[in-house]
Amino acid sequence: MERIPVKGQFTESVVLVGESLHNLKEHLPAQKVFVITDQNIHRLHGRSWDMYPCYTLEAGEKSKVLEMAGSIYRWLIRNDADRRSFILAVGGGMVCDLAGFVASTFMRGLEFGFVATSLLAQVDASVGGKNGVNIDGYKNIVGTFNQPKFVICDTNSLQTLPTKELKNGLAEVVKHALIADADMFERIENNLSAILDLNPDIINYLVSRSVHIKAGVVTRDERETGLRRVLNLGHTWGHAVEKTDGISHGQAVSIGLAFAADLSVTKSYLKKHERDRLVQLLQNLGLPVDTQTPRNVIFDALLKDKKKEEGIMHFVLMKGIGDVVIEPIPIQELREFACL
Ligand SMILES: NC(=O)c1ccc[n+]([C@@H]2O[C@H](COP(=O)([O-])OP(=O)(O)OC[C@H]3O[C@@H](n4cnc5c(N)ncnc54)[C@H](O)[C@@H]3O)[C@@H](O)[C@H]2O)c1
Ligand SMILES: [Zn+2]
Repeated sequence: MERIPVKGQFTESVVLVGESLHNLKEHLPAQKVFVITDQNIHRLHGRSWDMYPCYTLEAGEKSKVLEMAGSIYRWLIRNDADRRSFILAVGGGMVCDLAGFVASTFMRGLEFGFVATSLLAQVDASVGGKNGVNIDGYKNIVGTFNQPKFVICDTNSLQTLPTKELKNGLAEVVKHALIADADMFERIENNLSAILDLNPDIINYLVSRSVHIKAGVVTRDERETGLRRVLNLGHTWGHAVEKTDGISHGQAVSIGLAFAADLSVTKSYLKKHERDRLVQLLQNLGLPVDTQTPRNVIFDALLKDKKKEEGIMHFVLMKGIGDVVIEPIPIQELREFACL
């Protein structure tokens, strides 16, 4: 098991990569524990926390809403939660974001911890201290910055994760390699079937490297005033594709990464053969690199999303594999590149 510290401005966390869900009790404080999870995870892994009161959400993004936070607050009140109570989220990013928000706001803040059960939660959502809920389709519009006491990443729990969800996480893993680690990128290239078969050594390595990379960025810029923006690699175009095509986040990010690579080649930051390596890797992982939707439709969605009609947009570009740069690009230039 590896312990990776994450330092926020006011709070700090430790991510435990390779820790087992069976050791959960060792990490929990003596005070009263309240568990929040979703139905799928409860059905598959619920035995590990059946000694604690548990609020089980319907699975899916539709549960990550303010109304649900209200229901959980009422459940905590009915069950005599107090200032010393501890909230444990067991689940993917949806459960962690919602439970982290509830814990941060109930009685002005309770201590909390995460057991991250999806690959996306292990490599991304549970790290960095952001939590929040959606309101009327506005994603993460209400939330706080607050670090959990601990994050348990039991990579064995990924055995029950649907393949589609695994691939969502893999897109973010590739993103992390592109941002900061050329060796990691090469290891992904050389271990494709072991990764898709969830070989514990390679999966623990990928989770660990991803957490180190994200934690390194977040420790230097928790509140996204500058550096943290590099984590948006592939996400500017990706979010627009997610909106227009209604595909999963990871698939959209994969298309966004390929787009960012093409733009990086055009701007002479990235070599053509490096772009080709990336596209090949994404395809080998079973991720898409393009869509049938006309580029101008995606571009309009992008402008709407960013609420920008003119001026410049900060775009994360690749300067090679394992290195990125944030470049201000005039909207008009971006339009010409995307749509012509
Ligand atoms: N806070 C952040 O910094 C941050 C970063 C990225 C994403 N997010 C948020 O994370 C959420 C997406 O996370 P996600 O992809 O984990 O989604 P999710 O939590 O909805 O999980 C996806 C699906 O996988 C199932 N699942 C999870 N673990 C499982 C397991 N071990 N076995 C079987 N099924 C399992 C869930 O029940 C669900 O059906 C979004 O709400 C997004 O906004 C937050
Ligand atoms: Zn993402």
